[in-house]
Amino acid sequence: MKVLVTGGAGYIGSHTVLALIEAGHIPVVVDNLSNSSFESIKRVEQITETSIEFHENDVCDKQALKSLFSKEKIDAIIHFAGYKSVGESIAKPLAYFDNNLNSTLSLLEVIYADSDPKAPKFIFSSSANVYGNPEVLPVSEIAKTGEGITNPYGYTKFFCEQILKEVCVSNPEFQAIALRYFNPIGAHPSGIIGEDSQETPNNVAPYICQVAAGKLSEFSIFGDDYDTPDGTGIRDYIHVMDLAEGHVAALNFNSKGFEAINLGTGTGTSVLELHSAFEKAAELTIPYKFAQRREGDIESSYADVAKAHQLLNWKSKRTVSDGCADAWRWQSHNPDGYGKN
Ligand code: NAD
Ligand code: UFG
Repeated sequence: MKVLVTGGAGYIGSHTVLALIEAGHIPVVVDNLSNSSFESIKRVEQITETSIEFHENDVCDKQALKSLFSKEKIDAIIHFAGYKSVGESIAKPLAYFDNNLNSTLSLLEVIYADSDPKAPKFIFSSSANVYGNPEVLPVSEIAKTGEGITNPYGYTKFFCEQILKEVCVSNPEFQAIALRYFNPIGAHPSGIIGEDSQETPNNVAPYICQVAAGKLSEFSIFGDDYDTPDGTGIRDYIHVMDLAEGHVAALNFNSKGFEAINLGTGTGTSVLELHSAFEKAAELTIPYKFAQRREGDIESSYADVAKAHQLLNWKSKRTVSDGCADAWRWQSHNPDGYGKN
């Protein structure tokens, strides 16, 4: 299939572009490089020994999209492009609603512009954030969404899912799959591509990595008084290559209208357990301290993965230790990410 990958130069996007090529698909990448570098695309070209069609465009720019669609026959769209920082979304809610909603709306408007009911299959990057603070664990797709979301970023994912659902109601031929990611970690095992954090990371895995590399002095564990076995928060850390392969599996799935599917491992890992897995992977002592709970954080979240297995015939294969080892390989080979090596 020829697959339009928006945000394909970013962290999850670049790994998915690689997985698509390995599965025999042809990616066409659109990215405005607002949070990424063209270097990631060059590195994927290096690993796969192929050349990748790349367009430096904003997905909110409908004219640019129209021109692309008029020249290319696109079979499917994987829509990663968007802003992704929970903390930043609280400080800049309008920027998040603007970019995350308008990028989705402009793609949908453009693919419907010629009123062809057979629009390309649409795979959307959603998030476990739509569940808010889940009442039942593991959290399954039938859990309620939208209530208890703690930040504008989470609302953008919830609203985009609603938009996709309504478009499916209006056109029964339209296939929209919202993949609800749990917590991606790791990098391609080559250490050639990975997560390129431009600033001090907010997410736990890149933060620990940078402490291990000596770029940050100490890792703060946000809260040691949760009602969990070791008192620290629990998440479902999924290897980014497993996540990437989940997208390839979703391309092969024919949904009847809208379908939301969790992509996680099904296993919860505490912050202390993740820290110790990183210490083992890096063979280093990584200094940490306990700090206050972070505002808006939930106690525990991990996925019910039965639906992904049933519908996509997909399961995660890699462990948290694999994720830590691969993240560390990427970090140690590329201390400044794609910037300077
Ligand atoms: P990322 O920031 O590395 O990648 C996003 C890419 O989109 C970047 O390359 C950026 O330049 C591009 N982009 C942003 N707005 C754009 C626009 N208007 N037009 C064109 N390009 C644009 O983030 P990521 O971690 O790879 O996340 C990818 C998607 O997955 C996002 O939608 C994110 O919300 C979602 N997601 C991420 C996580 C996570 O923890 N990383 C978890 C759940 C969901
Ligand atoms: N944590 C720390 N110290 C840090 C950073 C995080 O202890 O420096 C803890 C958090 O308190 C939490 C866990 O590590 O218990 C994971 O935190 P992250 O910030 O890495 O991830 P979140 O679960 O808060 O959110 C992430 C993404 C969202 C996505 C969600 C999906 O940031 O975009 O996973 O589950 F929606």
